[in-house]
Amino acid sequence: MCDEEQVKFNKEVNDGISDKYDCQHNEIFNPIEQQRLVRALSTAIKAVKTDSKPLSALDYGSGSGNLTRHLIEAGINTVSADVSDGFLNLIERNFSHTGLSKTQKINGKDLTGMETGQFDLVATYSVLHHVPDYMHIVKEMCRVLKTGGVLYIDHEVNESYYQRSQEYLEFLKKARPIINLKRYLRLLFDVKGYKHIVRRLINPRYKREGDIHVWPDDHIEWDKIEQLVIEEGLEIVLKEDYLLYKSGYDVDVYNEYKDKCADERLLIARKQ
Ligand SMILES: C[S@@+](CC[C@H](N)C(=O)[O-])C[C@H]1O[C@@H](n2cnc3c(N)ncnc32)[C@H](O)[C@@H]1O
Repeated sequence: MCDEEQVKFNKEVNDGISDKYDCQHNEIFNPIEQQRLVRALSTAIKAVKTDSKPLSALDYGSGSGNLTRHLIEAGINTVSADVSDGFLNLIERNFSHTGLSKTQKINGKDLTGMETGQFDLVATYSVLHHVPDYMHIVKEMCRVLKTGGVLYIDHEVNESYYQRSQEYLEFLKKARPIINLKRYLRLLFDVKGYKHIVRRLINPRYKREGDIHVWPDDHIEWDKIEQLVIEEGLEIVLKEDYLLYKSGYDVDVYNEYKDKCADERLLIARKQ
């Protein structure tokens, strides 16, 4: 698929799942991950060194509003941007009453229409692995930041996700329930989902939500992102690897391993 087709495919798939997104993504909407996210976002907000009051933020690839919700709760004027009309409609329904929420449809390739130096905070969570030219998007995110503004990239797998250590393999074996009955029953009765199973049989790399950088030979290159961010004049404030908690993991096992291995990365950087 060329980049254009990939973005179109992602848009269509995400339009189709927008209403069910929150209940299908328990690796995001669970208390442990939400607490980590709130702490991380608070670090990013405190790192902003612009004079703006209130702050303004861009939530790039906002989905149903996971980041948007926390940004608005922090009193930040938030532009939620996405390729999917389904998600943007949802954001309008859920957040327009706050007076802090705007939505913007984007093309998935660049930030055309957004001004250079427009935002105090530019945040993205679990999005870059869907974007064909994600390096260009990172460059664009740096462009629309004010001097002193902060870039926040979260929930993208790190290198250890692919080069699995003994501890990580041990963790996965111990933490995962052997049979997740609820999940299997949901899949069994999801008649529409059968078309995705057929597509996967035809193309083993097919992913329902259009994930494109999820294979050992095609994954988000964190080292290049970091290099680009520095070249664009930002300084790294925090680079943190963490072990993502997914609902269904045994909490005691998770607590035992969370300081021994990690599979995701958070990067916070400030424009100088
Ligand atoms: C896994 S979801 C993450 C949503 C949200 N950030 C969250 O925290 O739940 C990926 C999001 O990226 C959006 N997306 C997919 N391709 C995109 C692209 N090329 N540019 C911007 N957003 C894209 C999807 O519509 C979807 O909202």
